[in-house]
Amino acid sequence: MLTQTATHHPYTEQHIGHTELTQHYRVDLRPLSPDVFYDANPVSDWRDLTWEQIGKPYRVERWSKEKQRWEREHQQDLPTKLAWEMFNRSFQSLFDADALAKRQESLAEIGVALKGFHLHDALHAVEDTLHWTMWNYIHRVQDGIWDPRGKRALFEGLEVHHPEILFLGAADGYEAMQLMAMYPGGHAVLVDYDAYCKDHRFGAFPDSYPFLGVDPSSGQPRVWYKDQMDIDYEVIDIRDLKYGREFDIVVSIGLIEHFPDEYKPLAFEMHRKFLKPNGYAVFTTPRIQTISKLFYMLFADVMNYAYRELMDVKHLGLYAYENGFEILRHGRIKAHNGVIAKVR
Ligand SMILES: C[S@@+](CC[C@H](N)C(=O)[O-])C[C@H]1O[C@@H](n2cnc3c(N)ncnc32)[C@H](O)[C@@H]1O
Repeated sequence: MLTQTATHHPYTEQHIGHTELTQHYRVDLRPLSPDVFYDANPVSDWRDLTWEQIGKPYRVERWSKEKQRWEREHQQDLPTKLAWEMFNRSFQSLFDADALAKRQESLAEIGVALKGFHLHDALHAVEDTLHWTMWNYIHRVQDGIWDPRGKRALFEGLEVHHPEILFLGAADGYEAMQLMAMYPGGHAVLVDYDAYCKDHRFGAFPDSYPFLGVDPSSGQPRVWYKDQMDIDYEVIDIRDLKYGREFDIVVSIGLIEHFPDEYKPLAFEMHRKFLKPNGYAVFTTPRIQTISKLFYMLFADVMNYAYRELMDVKHLGLYAYENGFEILRHGRIKAHNGVIAKVR
């Protein structure tokens, strides 16, 4: 059992190396191990890679019931912004839930339904049990979504000092906070056009969640918290941002894959136009792997409101390369591909 040193900042430098399961998430203050950002077969020269060699990304096309219902009722496609508003509430409900308690509840419901021979209710409860079991495993046990060790490995080695960071489609803002812990003393602008993200996904992100980073005065590892970071959150469409080329890092986590190929140049331009000369663009997209396909199939009702591709890191790198970026590093973390790039 840990000693609580402050109500909202329960972990200190003495906890580095520690990992623990809380009710809603994993605390992971373990420094990196070598296998958390890798590419088994890295691309040495992006000029030699072609779409014929790697094919195109996989499209997720099993849509949520809510999207389908809306489209039936309104006789039109679900507008993109509304799709994101529905997605954010739906996805966040998973983070807010106590997965183990929910699993216990649905297990109990199976018993009650079977006793009363209500087969339809029993099947529904089995499905719920499967969902909560999988969510508990993916998010809480494996930490596959926040993936702090993978993200730290992806973000390490950037040559920035007190960086200005722009996070496009920031949602809960997790990765900006991880970057700020690793490169402290800077400032981040989080951008999302869904106000719920500012108010709830980021607004209610736990103050007590520890981010492992560095102490700028000693260079030693240090634990950082959200309320120690200089963050502004703008509720605005990325396309309406008025910034110039003023950011050291422009990052998006799971944004590029929502743009079909004809819009990919626009997606990359939205990163490039805000970067200082020599600034870093950081892109991640979900991986094309069996567990991800299974996740988006089983969680279709929760997740699938908008166009989405699953990619290999070679897809992401080739898109970035073709759109004018020099790829500095590329690799895979738990659920995502990652690319660190500069404008060519
Ligand atoms: C797939 S999510 C990013 C994934 C995120 N890491 C998460 O945990 O949900 C994309 C986010 O970008 C936002 N977004 C999409 N298009 C946008 C736009 N044009 N302007 C601002 N925000 C946008 C959505 O509201 C959503 O919160």
